[in-house]
Amino acid sequence: MTAIPPGVKACCAAAYSRDAVALVLGESYHPGGLALTRRLASAMRLRAGQHVVDVASGPGTTARLLATEYGTTVDGVELSEAAVQRAGAAAAEAGVSGRVRFYRGDAERLPLPDEIADAVVCECAFCTFPGKAAAAAEFARVLRPGGRLGITDVTVAGGGLPEELTTLTAWVACIAGARTAGEYARVLGAAGLRITHAEPHDDALARMVGQIDARVRLLQMTAAGRLAAAGIVADSVLRYTAMARRAVASGLIGYQLLVAEKPRHHDR
Ligand SMILES: C[S@@+](CC[C@H](N)C(=O)[O-])C[C@H]1O[C@@H](n2cnc3c(N)ncnc32)[C@H](O)[C@@H]1O
Repeated sequence: MTAIPPGVKACCAAAYSRDAVALVLGESYHPGGLALTRRLASAMRLRAGQHVVDVASGPGTTARLLATEYGTTVDGVELSEAAVQRAGAAAAEAGVSGRVRFYRGDAERLPLPDEIADAVVCECAFCTFPGKAAAAAEFARVLRPGGRLGITDVTVAGGGLPEELTTLTAWVACIAGARTAGEYARVLGAAGLRITHAEPHDDALARMVGQIDARVRLLQMTAAGRLAAAGIVADSVLRYTAMARRAVASGLIGYQLLVAEKPRHHDR
């Protein structure tokens, strides 16, 4: 199993709250973007009036979408204070701050009461949590019986990753801490959550790597100053995207959508 570099949790949160990430990734920080969030919402059968917890809510794009398009209320929990502030400001600007709130908190100790949520979503973040069992137990704790969990995340093939993809950069890029889809199901199962649906979205990961590559190349030609100001070393990013592209193409890493259910008391 990949060793966890010290400080990986804070580093991931700090990295994702930098302007550089918005410059390279746009408004949604996961493969598949808003289209895959909509797919996840429909696989979870989200309905108007339901209460959703978005764990590792990042820029808050998913929370706003779930409130405006699905009529839900959303509590976003995010480790980075800067991201919490920005997500709150964006929700106010979109006129949904009455239905969408953001809290600073750790996925492994959610600052929310038991059984508060009809649904929990967690996109492209479970893979980065060093304490996956603790986070899974927290998902189960805040879900009401019968509630659903929806995850989209990076997966790795059974044989593990080559050394070049286990660095701190790889942790921040959500790769080094990723597990097989079976291992995710096992960890969620141990927390009392039963997988009801799974579908592969490896193509979304391939597209995201391609988009990052293309965006950095374009910025390198047209706005090198912006890249430098955001602290992005284009050649390093491009070396990394080339590695990631090969890993996706050879099936070493992929992307998976999972829906799980917290059984009602009489089903347990
Ligand atoms: C790849 S981004 C995904 C953000 C968002 N879910 C999205 O799809 O747009 C990963 C996010 O996880 C957050 N994060 C990492 N570890 C966390 C933890 N232990 N608790 C809460 N958030 C965490 C990071 O700060 C970052 O915003």
